[in-house]
Amino acid sequence: MKIGVPKERRPGEKRVAVSPDVARKLKDLGFTVVVEKGAGDGASFTDAAYRDAGATIAKGGQAALKGADIVLKVRPPILDGGEAGSELALMKKGAVLIGNLSALSNKGDVAAYAKAGVTAFALELLPRITRAQSMDVLTSQSNLTGYKAVLDAAHELGRAFPMMMTAAGTIAPAKVFVLGAGVAGLQAIATAKRLGAVVTAYDVRPAVKEQVESLGGKFVEVDADAVKDAETAGGYAREMGADYKKKQDAAIHEHLKKQDIAICTALIPGRKAPVLITEAMVKDMKPGSVIVDLAVEMGGNCALSVSGKVVVRHGVTIVGHANVPSRLAEDSSALYARNLLNFITPLVGEKGKSLNIDRDDEIIKGALVTIGGKVVHPDLTGKEK
Ligand code: NAI
Repeated sequence: MKIGVPKERRPGEKRVAVSPDVARKLKDLGFTVVVEKGAGDGASFTDAAYRDAGATIAKGGQAALKGADIVLKVRPPILDGGEAGSELALMKKGAVLIGNLSALSNKGDVAAYAKAGVTAFALELLPRITRAQSMDVLTSQSNLTGYKAVLDAAHELGRAFPMMMTAAGTIAPAKVFVLGAGVAGLQAIATAKRLGAVVTAYDVRPAVKEQVESLGGKFVEVDADAVKDAETAGGYAREMGADYKKKQDAAIHEHLKKQDIAICTALIPGRKAPVLITEAMVKDMKPGSVIVDLAVEMGGNCALSVSGKVVVRHGVTIVGHANVPSRLAEDSSALYARNLLNFITPLVGEKGKSLNIDRDDEIIKGALVTIGGKVVHPDLTGKEK
């Protein structure tokens, strides 16, 4: 079977779905791997490295996709690419598309995959079970995002992170407040701690308190009783009621007045991100403080953040970089490629000649969005799981 790896075409996307290391492993599984020329440039993977790994370099996207049985992507294929055309139209009927397809917010695209006869797996929908951990693209990318957010904050802050006792005087450690302590938030806590900051964190899910403390952070409590039902069975956060929101606002407002940095990571799957930092709170922060809003593409945790921009409001720098994983393209691509490999490996039939798609398997059921010309994922069809 042929695996096609096109260059990612979305603006600002530097990642690539397959690293040379993973290309070699796919070849060992029996596949022919075809990578578009320059596909790895943004992630510092050269065409020569892919060739050394046994891949073939295709001159353009058309050649990479033509006849491919499996297409590996980071972002959803472009359907209306103007002069460049549609990536989907280049895929053959029956091709298997695997990637981070943002399926729940791109329902029209998913319908188009079905119409084109493409079998599509949206890896962001993988169930968060132990067996799927090594395939979990959300985790591998969020982890790096949390790390980079702290470095972005350090870059903007006019102060140092660690306490320094020098002949010229003592510098107090920076105070970092992490809002939302999932995968990205926990990595942000660990990174800020390593740099010497005093770290506090807050999350609606009470289970997080222990994890924050184990990383050396202090947990900011809002209302211990109200958060008893804040976690879904899947481990995600629920949207909280008005009463809780009021208490949360007061606690965050007070706490923010003393902080140098706020790192926002709070998300609710399939919904707009909750606004945790209002304009009034920004006004009351110390001049020169920095907010990094990782939720900016989902509407933002800070009311004043702007997607894709660094802005200064009321003396506070608000960082709203979009697609943060792409800012660490080499590592994020390497881990993403490993996730793909770990997803594909159990499906491979003899010598890479077929893929066994067992529709009763929990992982397949979770990620499969289209097959046989139909949209099949329950979150997209509205049918019971
Ligand atoms: P996420 O990216 O959906 O959200 C980030 C954080 O924001 C979460 O911790 C959430 O509780 C928090 N949040 C939401 N609303 C908030 C609010 N109003 N105020 C404060 N915080 C708020 O979550 P992520 O990072 O994807 O992790 C979700 C869960 O999945 C976690 O429990 C994590 O440990 C678990 N997980 C399990 C895996 C596995 O077993 N395979 C792999 C990865 C994560």
